[in-house]
Amino acid sequence: MSTARFSRFGFILAAVGSAVGLGNIWKFPYVTGEYGGGAFVLVYLLTALFIGVFILIAELLIGKLGQSDAVSMFENLAVKKKNIWKYAGFIAIVPLIILSYYSVVIGWIFHYIAISFQSLPSTVEESKNIFMSLLTSDLQTQLMYHTVVFVLVTSIILKGIKDGIEKINKILMPLLALILTILFVYSISVDSFSKAASFMFNADFTKLSSEAVIVAIGQAFYTLSLGMGIIITYAASLPKKVNIVKSSLLIAVIDTLVALVAGLIIFTLLFDKGAESTKGAGLVFISLPSVFYEFGSIGSTLAILFFVAIAFAGITSAISMLEPMVSYFVNRFNYSRVKAALICSIFFYVLGIAALLSNITDYSPMLMVGDKNLFDWLDFVSSTILVPLGGILVVVFVGHFMDKEKINAELIPLLGTAFTKIWFFMVRYIIPMALIIVILNETGLFKF
Ligand code: PFF
Repeated sequence: MSTARFSRFGFILAAVGSAVGLGNIWKFPYVTGEYGGGAFVLVYLLTALFIGVFILIAELLIGKLGQSDAVSMFENLAVKKKNIWKYAGFIAIVPLIILSYYSVVIGWIFHYIAISFQSLPSTVEESKNIFMSLLTSDLQTQLMYHTVVFVLVTSIILKGIKDGIEKINKILMPLLALILTILFVYSISVDSFSKAASFMFNADFTKLSSEAVIVAIGQAFYTLSLGMGIIITYAASLPKKVNIVKSSLLIAVIDTLVALVAGLIIFTLLFDKGAESTKGAGLVFISLPSVFYEFGSIGSTLAILFFVAIAFAGITSAISMLEPMVSYFVNRFNYSRVKAALICSIFFYVLGIAALLSNITDYSPMLMVGDKNLFDWLDFVSSTILVPLGGILVVVFVGHFMDKEKINAELIPLLGTAFTKIWFFMVRYIIPMALIIVILNETGLFKF
């Protein structure tokens, strides 16, 4: 790699920074609401902690043994040379596609930080109008914030692993932890906390549809940033002496904890004001702002803290989405980091503009394909098809096409022989099957 390595702590922070993002604070609570609470949370927890940790170990192994960019690592680590695995590394393009619309959503969050400083909507109706007019007619504001995100993440990624990625995570992640702790402590003091806790942790399995199980698996995947070459790329800059099993566990546990804490905070606030839990994607942008208003004088402080927390979480994830392709261009074509970063950033920036235009009423007819606009297509194709597909490639590659002896030499000292065998079994057979089911179900090709 062309830039200095992570420190051990820096690596964990950066990986957690990538994992903890809009998926934890924005998406997890609303899908939990939609799919009925406790039982959904349980399936999500089991998937994140079992399937998630198994794949994290696989990705860290590729990075540790491969020591290069994502594309080259697949090519170099395959046992058979002249292989088609060199194409698998192009899963590293997927995060750039995700980043196009993810950056637009971070832009909305910036806008909501500004609103929280000015005045919050006093009713859900007003809140809905604000959000819908931002989304469907306010091109200027969205473009401005999308550009701010573009400049911000590009300038950080330019500085490389140590001075860019590690440094920003060392600043933003502790701040994020602090803000979430403050909000969490506050929500414990609110009466409806116990109601929120029982909503999230009382598992009523009669509410658990097979669709909910599939969504929970998909969510666990997305939230851990798996199957996109990100963790693989970060792991290539791991310091030599890192226990990859412990690191994987730590990353999954912290990411899961953040999702749970965010869920508890949001549901406590919503329930306290009698708002509903099932508000879909608008939960954070429509229901919450008017709930914050109802909290009176402390409401705008809560709102600012909350939106700043999501912004921090989003930025550290956004940066991680750029790194895989940047390191590919630097490694393979000897591009300067500046050139590589600009190519990748301009790609996501332009695609992001098209995505945000597709929500604007005047342009949306041009950017509709079938029943979805470009924004929704980008989200759907990347997070429901490409991410699980990338996951399958990773586990099939590690399970069947990498040198088993090398993997054993890494894992047996950490896991023991029996657990290493279980890990291999999961990675070879169970996880690919689970992921195929997720893709079939989410694309509607086969409903379970
Ligand atoms: N894990 C991030 C989240 O939960 O928001 C999402 C994410 C990060 C998706 C990085 C894709 C990615 F490349």
